Amino acid sequence: MADGHATPVLGIIGGSGIYGIDGLTNTEWRTVESPFGAPSDQLLFGELDGQTLVFLPRHGRGHRIPPSELNYRANIDALKRAGVTEILSVSAVGSLKEELPPGTFVIVDQFIDRTFARSKSFFTTGCVAHVALGHPVCSRLGDACEAALKELAIPYQRGGTYLVMEGPQFSTQAESKLYRSWGCDVIGMTNMPEAKLAREAEMCYATVAMVTDYDCWHPDHDHVTVDAVIKVLLENADKGRALVKAVAPKVRDRAAPCEKGCHTALEHAIITAPEA
Ligand code: ADE
Repeated sequence: MADGHATPVLGIIGGSGIYGIDGLTNTEWRTVESPFGAPSDQLLFGELDGQTLVFLPRHGRGHRIPPSELNYRANIDALKRAGVTEILSVSAVGSLKEELPPGTFVIVDQFIDRTFARSKSFFTTGCVAHVALGHPVCSRLGDACEAALKELAIPYQRGGTYLVMEGPQFSTQAESKLYRSWGCDVIGMTNMPEAKLAREAEMCYATVAMVTDYDCWHPDHDHVTVDAVIKVLLENADKGRALVKAVAPKVRDRAAPCEKGCHTALEHAIITAPEA
């Protein structure tokens, strides 16, 4: 698949504000076809210190596709077909906790999925599968992210619950307060069904969420606006890009399948009887 490049281990899905990877050489945008339709964009193949990486701008180049219209299945399937085994999602989020101010990074480990208008499974006809999702992200990839954030001295929190809302409108204050009462840490619009589909595709998946705002619950802060999100994103974009660069070498020489079970997630998940 990776003509001219070695097969990539790491695929990066860049959300709002992350539209490329610094220092990538020998780059090529390549169309990857999927039976699930068109991904958000072509995939960008390139090399960082001789290591092949693949980048997908989640909303497409120019940020054209809103969260509810993203073809999440095609995106994950295209990365799988490119040979990627580990997906790092970098995503802008709102904060639901006082102690997570804008500029903080959160290595998410749980999700509450409140989305309702998206295709969420590869197993819709002919074969029924129920993958385990108790631990929806890969802690091995999370370890690599944590080591990278430490190296870069970027303030971060390890672990946190990401409330995934449908959008595209931001939350009402009643909703924001409800999610806080549920103990959620951050809120965004895109990481589900991404994480579910990565699990079904037997890929490692981790999210580093970049806090851009206090949503609309905080009495001392203005309610979130796109302008405010972009301002904080621009201030932190260099950190996001540095993070990707620092994570890449840590996953470079993955030998065995993920010992956390990401690469064998379907082994005990398929309920449909095999054909006689
Ligand atoms: N992305 C960034 N900030 C957000 C917020 N407050 N709500 C939902 N998605 C976001």
